[in-house]
Parts: sequence; structure tokens; C-alpha cells
Amino acid sequence: MCGIVGYIGSNNVKEVLLDGLKELEYRGYDSAGISVLQDESFSVYKAVGKLKNLQHKAEDFKPEGFAVGIGHTRWATHGKPTELNAHPHLGEYSYVVHNGIIENYQELKKELTAKGVKFLSQTDTEVIVHLFEQNLNSIEDAFEAFKLTLSQLQGAYAILLVTKSEPDTIFFAKEGSPMIIGTDALEQKFFASSDTPLIGHAKDVIYLHDGEFGFVTPDAIALFDSCHEAVRPQFSALPESKLSAQKEGFRFFMEKEIYEQTEVIADTMLGRIQDNAIAFDELDPSLFEGINEVKFCACGTSYHSALASTYLFERHAKIRTSVEIASEFRYKEPLMTTDTLFVVISQSGETADTLETLKMAKEAGLKTLVICNVDNSSMVRLADATILTRAGIEKGVASTKAFATQVTIFWMLSLYLAGERKTLSTENITKQIASLREIPASVAVNDDLHERLKRLSKRYLHGHGFFFIGRDVFYPLALEGALKLKEISYLHAEGYPSGEMKHGPIALADPELFTIALMPQHMLYDKTKSNVEELSARDSTICAISNLTFDKADDFIPIADRDHYMLEFFEMMVVLQLLSMEIAIRLGNDVDMPRNLAKSVTVE
Ligand code: M6R
Repeated sequence: MCGIVGYIGSNNVKEVLLDGLKELEYRGYDSAGISVLQDESFSVYKAVGKLKNLQHKAEDFKPEGFAVGIGHTRWATHGKPTELNAHPHLGEYSYVVHNGIIENYQELKKELTAKGVKFLSQTDTEVIVHLFEQNLNSIEDAFEAFKLTLSQLQGAYAILLVTKSEPDTIFFAKEGSPMIIGTDALEQKFFASSDTPLIGHAKDVIYLHDGEFGFVTPDAIALFDSCHEAVRPQFSALPESKLSAQKEGFRFFMEKEIYEQTEVIADTMLGRIQDNAIAFDELDPSLFEGINEVKFCACGTSYHSALASTYLFERHAKIRTSVEIASEFRYKEPLMTTDTLFVVISQSGETADTLETLKMAKEAGLKTLVICNVDNSSMVRLADATILTRAGIEKGVASTKAFATQVTIFWMLSLYLAGERKTLSTENITKQIASLREIPASVAVNDDLHERLKRLSKRYLHGHGFFFIGRDVFYPLALEGALKLKEISYLHAEGYPSGEMKHGPIALADPELFTIALMPQHMLYDKTKSNVEELSARDSTICAISNLTFDKADDFIPIADRDHYMLEFFEMMVVLQLLSMEIAIRLGNDVDMPRNLAKSVTVE
């Protein structure tokens, strides 16, 4: 995920900015840049790849005395990781850095282009600086122009802007993406998108709220709320440890990533959802021409999200859909026909088995698409088309937010295809789009629920195994729940379709077998219920997750009433992630780095 730093003061501005960006490296990035305004001229450096490339480029830059500067690490979302797409972005006499996504950038870009503005990058961010300069041309007051610019932006942002028209000022705004201002006794001001760059520099910090904006100069901080009322800054203390600051107060990165799901799913949807249609600008509609079948291929958690998508694709887009485990597919001498769209799914884009199947599909002349979280990864470079999941870097080996964003993409893609193929009515698509918009709320972690799962976890530390069971898309979710638990707790867990119990697995049922039953109201509730009753009758210990109370459950985890089964899916996903994590924590395991596992499996 992108990172921002800013500085105004008389220390070595280059060092402050580069050190700050270094502290943000843990968030992941694929390019970086800084821009420094001193003595009415800008010095700008950008580089693709690691920060040492940027340091190398800026080697001969030795600023002294007062300066204002901004810096950025970019995780590509709109446009490839190139120097032109790296921030800061230039207008004619101003620079901007931005985290988040400007949802209406295409309309704004069109308007600005019609007025003769030339764009250098493919990013959404660049519109901000051009819009600001256009506004400044007519208003002639930099702060008023900045305010007007903000009112024209839709989407999520944290923004820093510097301009030659106010050379001792940094303009800032926050809406949906984090931004912090730090101060010290020396009239220095710092900005950062998280605590870590500020530790050791700032004495006090102001955590900005959504809708807040303003400017800083060496001797003032002007802060305004979303109603444009002046706000008195509230200063807080900074955390002292950098590692704990990186985890932003969470015990593990996995926990932080579970809590981040609301934000990253919203990012994944930004710009792709319209009132009654889904738009994937990155897809050329010809990708689907002549296609009669979609074949998904992936490993691990990504395989589970792909399996869930097969239900959505056939149901919504009425297209034959299948899914394969990549390590199996590559050796089964598969029949591949050119009327099949071959889709690989991968968080990293580097998983060896999945990459190999992509190569096989390309060699067989199939059209290919990758759903991936890392731009410029091997799979992204190889596939004909890419949809990025925008989950940001995932540090926990146990995948959480990557899975959540993959399933979000698949739901959207199934509706996109349904629209293209006219297999669902506009009313149906519009209704489902309204439900899609509720995903971020459905994955928000509720404190009471988390507390309850913490307490419940102590009852599930022993036994001879877990069954996770569900039907339809809740079967892949059951597989994913079981994988999460075994990866980090080392307890034996299996996922099954509920209806399969009586074909063998039920033989294991006894009080020491824990059944985690996914019982959504809106997907085959009665069928699942009778399967769970069969297990209960054989004395398995039942932990049921549902919004409908179930009296045969030994433990019951209630979820909210939702009007679409996919929203039940997302809420249950969070329950399973948290329950696994709390069990693993009680067992004393390293949740972020479980034994025998690696984050990216680049060997066969
Ligand atoms: O990067 P990928 O999505 O291709 O990785 C696939 C699997 O290795 C990965 O999902 C693995 O199963 C995770 N540890 C699951 O939590």
C-alpha cells in the first residue's frame, strides 16, 4: 500500500524524507519519489523498485537550510510501476503525493485534457495537481484553490501538495486514507501516513480525521473540518516501538490485515462500481469474444476463492466454469481449447505451480487473465489481461485480506459478465450492486464479536480434529476456514461440503470432533441444518455460525441479518479468520510466521 511523508523545516530535508520512506517500506511498494522545494525551485527524484535506487539517484542532491518536501512510496493501482507513474506528480509549478483512489479521475482528466492540459502519467493522482493549478489560475488564492479542488474529488485520499505560489507551505487533506501531522519544538512539521516515520522526529502528533484538510507553514498549522470550520488540533503521544507502530497496535500483522479488510475491499471496488453496472477499465471486452468456458487455476487460499467464483460465474453469467489446483493441472495432460478463457489467481503473482499453468495456457493459444495483488509480478507480465486486487502488501503468511479482495473481484466480475452476456436483468444486477456496496461494512470487526471469539477459543484447543462444513459458496469458505486454522494452530482441520458428511466423514463424529457449521439464512439453510443435526445426533461438538438461532449448537456465533448470501459469506469469513487466530495465539504460536510455511511459494 502506498506511503506518504512530508517535511517543512531547516534540517536535511532529503534525509528526513528518505528515512521516512524507509520506515514505510514494510507496507510494500514498487516505486518511490521525493520532491523538494527550496529557494523557489524544485528538485525531484523518482525511481522504480527499491528505495536504494531512489537514494542512488538523489546522491548528489545536498540541500541545506529551510525547505519543504514531500515523498511517496507507490503500490501500483492505476498504471504500471514506472518512473512516470511514480509520485510526486507535477503540474506546472506544483507537486502532489496521494494515497487512495480518485474515483472520478477519468471525467476530470477528460475535462482537463479538453482545456489543453497534458498528462504525463496513467495515474488517477495526476488530475489533482492539474485541477489545483486550473483553480488557482481563476481564484488566485492557493488555499481557496486547494479547497475547491478537494470539493471536486470523489473517492478516498490522503494528499500533500506543495506549490511555488506558496513556497513555505504544505497543503494537506484526508478522506478515507490515513494521515498524521507531527511537530517538535523547533518549528519543524512532519507528515506521514502512519506512525513509524515520525518516531524519533516528532514530539506530538495530530491524527487527522476524515474530511479534515488545511495547510502548515513553519509557524502555523491551519486545520479545518469537512464543514470548513476551523478545528483546534488535538495532539497525542506517539507509540515508542517501531515494530509495534508497524502493526498499528495489533498483536500480529494477520490481525491488522483482518481489520484492514474494510478499507482494502473499498479500494478494490473504487471506480469499478457504477449505479447499475460494473466497469473494469483494464479489460478489453474482446477478451471474452468467442469464449464458451472459463477455467480458473490457483493454489491454496487463491484456489478457494476461485472455487467460490465458479458458483457465482455459472449462476450469474451462465457460462461453463471449472477450477483446477495448479500443481495437479500442470501434470494431468489437460485438454485445452481456445474457446476457454484461462484465469489464474494469485496474491503474489509468483507461485511456481500457478505460473507454470499460465505458461501452458499461453503455449496452447488460450486467452489468459490474471487476478493478482502484485503489479509487475511474473504472472501479471505474462497474462494477456490483469485485474489487480488492491489489497496492499500482505505480511501474514496466512492469507486474509488477499482472499477477501479476490472474492470481491469475482463477485463483481460475475456481474460484469452477466451484464455483457445479458444473463441477469438490470434490476437483478442493480440489486446485487447495492449488496456489493455493503461488503466493507459486513467485514468490519465488531469489538464484542472479537471479544466473544477470544473467550470461545479456549474451548477449541484440544480434540482430535475440526470439520468445517458448508454448502454452495460456503463450501469453499469452509475449506478456507479449515486451511486458516491448520496453518497457524497446527490442529487437524478439514473442510467439507455439508452434504458429504454421510458419505464417510461422519464416522469420525464424537464429542472430541469439533464441527464449525456455516449456516447462512440465504443459501440452502434447511439442507445445511439437517446435515448439522446429523452430526449433533452423533455427539459431535457443534459451533454454528448463523444469523438464525440454532438450538442444537454447543456454541453459537451470531452474525447480522443480511439480505444477500454473499454478505453472510463475508461476515462468516471474518469470524473464521479471527477464531483461527485466537486459537493459534492461545496455543502460543507465531501467527505471522507459522512453521514450515513461506509467504510466496516460488518452488515446485
Ligand atoms: O500467492 P498465491 O496466492 O499464489 O499463493 C498461493 C498459496 O501459496 C497461498 O494462498 C497459501 O495457501 C497461503 N498460505 C494461505 O493462507
